[in-house]
Amino acid sequence: MPNRARRTDTSLAELEHLLGRYHRVRAATERLCEPLEREDYVIQSMPDVSPPKWHLAHVTWFFEAFILQPFLPGYRPLDARYDHLFNSYYQTHGTPFERTRRGLLSRPTVCEVYAYRSHVDLAMEQLLTHLGADSADEVLRRVELGLEHEQQHQELLLMDIKHILAQNPLRPAYRSDLKPNAAAPAAPLRWLGYPAGVRHVGHAGDDFAFDCERPRHRTFVDAFQLASRPVSNGEYLDFIRDGGYGNIALWLSDGWDHIQRAGWQAPLYWQREGDDWLELTLGGPRDLDLDAPVCHLSYFEAEAFAAWAQARLPREEEWEVAAQDEPLWGNFVENDHLQPVAGGAVEGLQQLYGDVWEWTASAFRPYPGFRPLPGSLGEYNGKFMSGQMVLRGGSCVTPEDHVRPTYRNFFYPTMRWQFAGLRLAKEV
Ligand SMILES: [Fe+2]
Repeated sequence: MPNRARRTDTSLAELEHLLGRYHRVRAATERLCEPLEREDYVIQSMPDVSPPKWHLAHVTWFFEAFILQPFLPGYRPLDARYDHLFNSYYQTHGTPFERTRRGLLSRPTVCEVYAYRSHVDLAMEQLLTHLGADSADEVLRRVELGLEHEQQHQELLLMDIKHILAQNPLRPAYRSDLKPNAAAPAAPLRWLGYPAGVRHVGHAGDDFAFDCERPRHRTFVDAFQLASRPVSNGEYLDFIRDGGYGNIALWLSDGWDHIQRAGWQAPLYWQREGDDWLELTLGGPRDLDLDAPVCHLSYFEAEAFAAWAQARLPREEEWEVAAQDEPLWGNFVENDHLQPVAGGAVEGLQQLYGDVWEWTASAFRPYPGFRPLPGSLGEYNGKFMSGQMVLRGGSCVTPEDHVRPTYRNFFYPTMRWQFAGLRLAKEV
C-alpha cells in the first residue's frame, strides 16, 4: 500500500490546498514579468537590485535546494551549476554567487530560466502527489516557507523593475493600464489614543509566520497616540519647502552625512519640473499626487520628517497593538494601482495595511526567546538582525495574503527603493 494511502483525510485536503496555492503563487510571479521586454530581465541597476531573471531563478532554486534535493529521491537538477548561481546568501548550503555581479549573467537565458522553473514545478508536483507520511510535515512546512519567500520576491521584482526602468531617460512605463489614482483628498489627520499596559505581541498559533515574528511575548507599552493615516506627499512637500533637507537639527548624524554624500533633496523618484513635481511610477511619470501617502523614503528621512512635525516614529509594538483590532484591508498588489493612493475619510485608523510600509523606530532584533529555523533555513532572517529597522503593514506591491499584524519587514536605514513611508506617533 503506498504511503499516501496512510495519510489522514485532513492532511490530504491540506496537501491539495497547498498544491493549488503552489500553482497560484508560481503563476503570479510569471504574470508580473509578462509586461517586461527581454532586455529588462538582465539589468542590475544597483547592488541591492537583482535582475528580474535572477529573481525568477532564485525562488525556483529555493524549492530545489531545500525541498527537492533533500526529499525527492532520484531528483536530477536541470543544471547542477545553478545551485551556485542562484543561491542568494545561504553560506551553510554552498557558496553563493556574488550579489553585485548578478547583472553580468547573460546566461542562462531568459528562456532557459523559464525552462528551469518548469523543471522544478514538475518535480514539485511529483513530490507533493507522492508524499511519504514520514517526511510530509517537514515538506509541507518548507513548501509554505518557499511560497512566502516567492511572494517576498514578487514585491522585490516590482521594486527592482521600477528602479531599473527609472534609470532610463526615456522614462518607460512598466504598464500603461494600471488603475488610476482614487482622486480623493487626503482625510484630515487625527490622533488616536492608546492606553498604557502590558500587551502581547508576536505571532501565536500554528499558522504560517516567519521565525522572527515569534515567540509571542509580553511587553509594556506606555500610553501613546498614533496618527490616523500615513504622512501625505503634500505634507512632505511642506517639509522640503521649509528647508527640511538643509536643517541639520532635524537629522540623525548618520542620516545627515548620508544625504550630503548622496545629494538627496527629495524622496526617490521625485523629479522637479519648474515649479512642479513629477513622480516616476510603475505606470510612467505622473504629476505628484499631494493627497497620496509619501513613498520611497529612507529611515533617516522618515526620522527627520517626524522631528520637523514635532512627533516621532511609532515603535513596532505600538504599531502592532494598534493593528490588533483592525481589519486586514488596504491597497495591495491585487488592487492594481502599484502606487500608494489617497484613502479618503474613514473613521479610525486608515491605511494601516497596504499603500506604504511604515518605518518604525524599532531595530530589527530578536524577540525574547527567538529561535531561528534549524539548518540552513536558519539563515533566512536571524543573521540579518543587525543595523536594520523594522517596517510594518505591507505596501501597494505586497500580495494581500502575505501580510499579518505581526509581520516584520526590515531594511537598512539608508535604503529607499522599497515602497516605504511613515505614520507619526507621539506621547499622550
Ligand atoms: Fe530570497
